Amino acid sequence: MPAASQLIRIQRRFLPVDRSSGVDLLPRTKILCVCGARPNFMKVAPIMKSLARVWGADRLLVHTGQHYDERMSSRFFRELGIPAPDLNLEVGSGSHAAQTADVMKRFEPVCIEHRPDWVVVVGDVNSTLACALVAAKLQIRVAHVEAGLRSFDRTMPEEINRLLTDAISDLLFVSEPSGVENLRREGIQASKIHLVGNVMVDTLLQNRARAEKSLILATLGLRPKSYGVVTLHRPNNVDHPAALAPILEALVRISEELPIVFPVHPRTRKNLDLAGVGSGLAGLGRLRFVEPLGYLDFLKLMSDAAVMLTDSGGIQEETTILGVPCLTLRDNTERPITLTRGTNRLTGNRSEAILRGFAEIRRDPPKAKAPELWDGKAADRIVARLTGEELAPARSEEDLVLTRGQPMNARGVSP
Ligand code: UD1
Repeated sequence: MPAASQLIRIQRRFLPVDRSSGVDLLPRTKILCVCGARPNFMKVAPIMKSLARVWGADRLLVHTGQHYDERMSSRFFRELGIPAPDLNLEVGSGSHAAQTADVMKRFEPVCIEHRPDWVVVVGDVNSTLACALVAAKLQIRVAHVEAGLRSFDRTMPEEINRLLTDAISDLLFVSEPSGVENLRREGIQASKIHLVGNVMVDTLLQNRARAEKSLILATLGLRPKSYGVVTLHRPNNVDHPAALAPILEALVRISEELPIVFPVHPRTRKNLDLAGVGSGLAGLGRLRFVEPLGYLDFLKLMSDAAVMLTDSGGIQEETTILGVPCLTLRDNTERPITLTRGTNRLTGNRSEAILRGFAEIRRDPPKAKAPELWDGKAADRIVARLTGEELAPARSEEDLVLTRGQPMNARGVSP
């Protein structure tokens, strides 16, 4: 007895269109996915791949252009095999209000022209909220991937984006149980909430073997498990010298014990330059500044690190899967499962607390136990819910390889 999804496939094969009218007798679900900033690319990649494996979906990818340069955007598309965006809104950098408003102004005509059945937004960046808001007001259904995460810290721009996006979404795809609790507490209907696992982990598992081939350790002259890696970009940590200076002080002290590599985010770079530190990425003793890395090099660097120090959300999750000890230089996390099941510890951003955390984690490295549903199939679950089709397991790499379309800019013109 064929499964329902197989029947749909067979029906589609024999009843694709009504020849006289050209109308699709089994209309396909039109799904428009949005990405804007670096952490979004790892999240849309597996969703686009899963969408390519169902019969009943037309997919469209819109890049808002919040992140725009080779280091922060293009190379992730290449490395992760994400199809070139159908449209790039080219909003670029700006204040929160200007950036959010620009995305909204440029996304509205796209929604009106394409009239998708679903707009899928991921994560918590300004583009996430801006596109969700446009779609909701046009009465287009919104699905939010990575819904429900809460730091309960409204000084973080991402927390505002999360709260508002979740409030107007029709489907909320959640990565860990705390997200379900948070949404229920906020009065969101249970039927909208789906615990599906973690799309960022899908990407990690799909690319782990390729990352093993990266030559980054040799390039940087490092041996496995004999170095630490730092990433910092939260405004609270890097925008003010009063916060950044004590962090750097702690990092230099740690580097006396363990060499540290610091791929510097552009926001952080700007502030290091202003403070006259690390100019030209010169480094401070054994604390070494390098340019932001691509996905595969960074995954390899992280996998073989003795310790990660970070303020990123995604890295807390990735180290949980990799079993690499992680110190998060924040007072809170919206991903509490990384504390209970992963290797993550919160230290805040004061020098002494970071050093204490480092000593503890070296003495007693935490063990990880992968959270349920962080199994590489989150995107399949999301796509199954959106299209009503169960996905057959991916048979080969070929299933995951996508054809590239010709990108267009905001005016719909190929560059
Ligand atoms: C944004 C997200 C944050 C996410 C982070 C990942 C919001 C509110 N913040 O923060 O949640 O964790 O991305 O990186 O949406 N720049 C470049 N090249 C680029 C993009 C930016 O050099 O391709 C520089 C610009 O000078 C810009 C600065 O980086 O002023 C900061 O970029 P911005 O988009 O404002 O936010 P992020 O700090 O990257």
